[in-house]
Amino acid sequence: MKYTFAGRFPTAKDITRITFVEGKDTIVRTAQGGTVIEVGTGKRDEMTRRKLLTTIRKMVSLAKSANRQKVALNFFDLVFPHLHMLPQEIGELLSVNLEMANFEFVKYKSKPKEGWNALAEVIVVGKLGSGVEKAIKKGKIIGEEVNKTRSLANTPGGEMTPQILAQTATDEAEGLPITVTALGVREMEELGMGAILGVGRGSDEEPKFIVMEYMAGAPDEQPIVLIGKGVTFDTGGLNLKSDTNMYEMHMDMSGGAAVIHALCTAAKLKIKKNIVALVPAVENMPSGSSYHPGDVLRSMSGKTIEVLNTDAEGRIILADALHYAKQYKPRLVIDVATLTGAICVALGPYASGLFTRDHDLEERFRALGEETGDYVWPMPLWDEYESEIKGTFGDWANTGKSRYGGATNAALFLYQFTKDAGGKDAYPWVHIDIASRMTAAEGEQLAKGAAGAPVRLLAKLLEHF
Ligand code: BES
Ligand code: MN
Ligand code: ZN
Repeated sequence: MKYTFAGRFPTAKDITRITFVEGKDTIVRTAQGGTVIEVGTGKRDEMTRRKLLTTIRKMVSLAKSANRQKVALNFFDLVFPHLHMLPQEIGELLSVNLEMANFEFVKYKSKPKEGWNALAEVIVVGKLGSGVEKAIKKGKIIGEEVNKTRSLANTPGGEMTPQILAQTATDEAEGLPITVTALGVREMEELGMGAILGVGRGSDEEPKFIVMEYMAGAPDEQPIVLIGKGVTFDTGGLNLKSDTNMYEMHMDMSGGAAVIHALCTAAKLKIKKNIVALVPAVENMPSGSSYHPGDVLRSMSGKTIEVLNTDAEGRIILADALHYAKQYKPRLVIDVATLTGAICVALGPYASGLFTRDHDLEERFRALGEETGDYVWPMPLWDEYESEIKGTFGDWANTGKSRYGGATNAALFLYQFTKDAGGKDAYPWVHIDIASRMTAAEGEQLAKGAAGAPVRLLAKLLEHF
């Protein structure tokens, strides 16, 4: 989408004026043949940060429903003094959310004669200053990367294999100062990545371990490492999922897509830091060569994993990635994964689960969630739960003993692989279970399908951490 800036409302008929009113949403045709769209905000003094995001997005759906391609709005309509937001902050939120609302996944649909219905240009009216204009341009970049994450996650499983995911990472990094390497089976064997290789065995598609490095910081600066679950399709393996549960499992690489595009965002915003993204990519399939329930896998860390259920595959592949990350001596590791159905039960569809033992990081991530709209909510990561995942014939079992607390059991499993050989934390670590935010929810004013979480949160974190 194109953003232009103007001191006052343009008068051209093809430009639709957007006004924000306390009343209802209305589309008004003017006597002069133009259109005015009134976007209802509710009582202005009752506006909240969360509602501001959906109000901005609603403006796009109204413009689309009226078939308008160019709109103009007064920036100061979006200033709600009681929200204490800086104009730059509002500008960035404006373009991020306009981009997100304007996105639809149409790659596999026939183009209608009149073309796709989308906004092409937004004219932001008001005396803005260069800071706000810059913020709007920055928000555009972030919003576009969120949308690329959504496209990638939405791509059907038949067309998104580990190999294609690795190729996409390479293509997306082109022209940016990012180096991309994808380890294949032979290389993973040499590294002893028995966890990823175990999960990948049942598929005809070779697993890949994608490594992306963006080293724009000082040479001696410790990097931030992002890890994303890249299960390109999760059938459950021999513990096959039911039909309803298997639907949408092409999006089980949403964490991988998010970290790939968070890294690209950092590069496009020219953030001067060292950042690494790791994506273990596999397809979880049932076949004659699949790993079995009862198998014991030797992970890269040397710890063994007793497979109680082949459908708890995400934590297994992340075990090797969390261990691999140690070689970077990171100052922070964040993993992002559509890890458990249990987090959906715990939180519903509006927040991701946040797991960390670091209180400051917990506060910081929660605040970033509120700021960006990638809401995260803290979950326990306590020792008590560890007994649930103690293995009988291996070191750690990949599922808990009961049905309860599944998201925390999974997080505690991951935690084991963030420790060094002496049992100490190898790095500060945050785990985000985005299964609950895999797809857009009711009332969010977003197209059906992948939601692109938590790219906005990661972008802000990478900028400020
Ligand atoms: N990818 C799924 C989790 C998931 C479920 C993501 C729904 C998005 C929406 C994960 O691999 C899985 O299958 N988890 C199992 C674990 C269980 C076998 C312990 C689950 O949550 O049922
Ligand atoms: Mn699974
Ligand atoms: Zn999965």
